[in-house]
Amino acid sequence: MPYRRKFLTRAGYTTLSALLTMGFLQKDKQKEEPSAKELVLNYTAKNYPLRELAAAKGKRYGAAISSDILLKDKDYANLIARECSIVTPNGELKWNATEPQQGLFTFESADAIANFCQKHNIDMHGHTLFWHMGKPDWLPYPPTLKMIERHVKGVMGHYRNSKVLKSWDIANEIIADNENETDNPTYGLRKGVKPELIRDLFLIAASVDNSKEFYLNDFGIEGATWKSERFLKMVEYLKNSGVKIDGAGIQSHLWFSTAYSFDEKGFNSVLKRLNDLEVKPIITELDIIIDAPLPDSIEKLDQMIADSYKRYLDLCFAAKVDTVITWGLTDRHTWIRHPDWMPGKTFRDNPNLWKFLRPLPFDEKFQPKPAYNAIAQAFEQAT
Ligand code: XIL
Repeated sequence: MPYRRKFLTRAGYTTLSALLTMGFLQKDKQKEEPSAKELVLNYTAKNYPLRELAAAKGKRYGAAISSDILLKDKDYANLIARECSIVTPNGELKWNATEPQQGLFTFESADAIANFCQKHNIDMHGHTLFWHMGKPDWLPYPPTLKMIERHVKGVMGHYRNSKVLKSWDIANEIIADNENETDNPTYGLRKGVKPELIRDLFLIAASVDNSKEFYLNDFGIEGATWKSERFLKMVEYLKNSGVKIDGAGIQSHLWFSTAYSFDEKGFNSVLKRLNDLEVKPIITELDIIIDAPLPDSIEKLDQMIADSYKRYLDLCFAAKVDTVITWGLTDRHTWIRHPDWMPGKTFRDNPNLWKFLRPLPFDEKFQPKPAYNAIAQAFEQAT
């Protein structure tokens, strides 16, 4: 599983820069009345839900969610409804969930999310119609065009008249992790995937339902990398082929250990080139993958994560990004606590370290953390 290998073998280690003294923690001594900034930070989340802070700037905030938890945990459902104006189904719209057997479509779990969205005025981001993972055993990768056509017609057709499903990750993670995993040096596509197949996938999608926004989604493109270069070339190819592509999903699974040496210049260049191509960048799976070395306390870790969110989102909002989706809302359900996705042997073999796996705005008791304040602050300061 190339994806998992990438997570588990990467041992990035950089000397973590001294923790930046974050301005937004400084109290403004002179004024009697706390500033709006402090109000946001001093209020608990329920007074300033992230979706409202985002909406005040014409933006959307949301998270990946799971239907099984949504249906059984009222507190979880209430937290999502309060904080999110957009959600991505964690797995309910992947091929193994929607077409588990050839030609047999099942939408019960995805529809449960759609109904929840309808009730709480939340947009739904369809993830995803084409991915090398999350697929049923009967499906080859890449699928044949005939399989793609049947799947896109079945799944997009089911949501064609949906009032909540507004956008699709038409294709996900089509760029290989490195030059050894592609047979296409120009576009770096995963082995067996031809650019024409992706072009035809987008064309078929547009023939079924061109009322939604179409995205190409990937990870590891949050800077000047081998992958981002090829991702941008693929976006350009699709644009030049005349297909409908409205945006680029930048997954933004940032790495804790390298977040402090984050490639701001490279990331700004990716955002600029997407905007120049008139392909809207959105943040689709933001979280911080906690890898070693770990700081000596949870408080310090939380503060460093908050700092990463703030700096990253400041760059996004400076480039007019208007949609931010974190990959989960609470640490209780973060995917990196699942044994299959824990970021490295360090954690898999040491359950006593799992308490450090806390990448999200709310903790396992659904209480806001410094990361919540940082995201709130970024929305509040966005111009
Ligand atoms: C992950 C889910 O969060 C896990 O529950 C599942 O086991 C595997 O997939 N990039 C993506 C997402 O585009 O679909 C992945 O979601 C995380 C990485």
